[in-house]
Amino acid sequence: MNEITVNGVVHEIPESDLEMSLIDYLRNKLDLTGTKNGCNIGVCGACTVLIDGKSKRSCVVKLNKAVGKEIVTIEGMEAADGTLHPIQQAFIDAGAIQCGFCTPGMVMSAHSLLLQDKDPSRDRIKKAIAGNLCRCTGYQQIIDAVENAAEVMRKE
Ligand code: FES
Ligand code: FES
Repeated sequence: MNEITVNGVVHEIPESDLEMSLIDYLRNKLDLTGTKNGCNIGVCGACTVLIDGKSKRSCVVKLNKAVGKEIVTIEGMEAADGTLHPIQQAFIDAGAIQCGFCTPGMVMSAHSLLLQDKDPSRDRIKKAIAGNLCRCTGYQQIIDAVENAAEVMRKE
């Protein structure tokens, strides 16, 4: 049976969909449109999601490679009561969002980093988001946001 778990919900994938990209499945079949499609060729990072805890570009992952895996999208970040994840809140508080197109991918890359490293240096944060392009912010506020989120999460 071809199943994937998205934000904690198990979905069965029909054989006919296995060649579809993960981003198309998320956006068009599950209506999870928070994951953005900037380039569709693996260069902008807007489509970043977590696959088994690691950040991946969902536009270059075929569904058949995601079978049996746990996917987390930006919609899976907030708590059940709607409280934003500390990383999401930190992006708002630091002014790290302008047009917002890159934000879901940035948040997911940051989440992947903070799962591995609870106290990353600014350099490590820069490397973690190096594959996520932002046309608006100049990156400094985004790095600030990830640093601030890490601090909040260490205290939790
Ligand atoms: S949309 Fe996937 S990397 Fe740009
Ligand atoms: S906020 Fe516009 S692309 Fe990053």
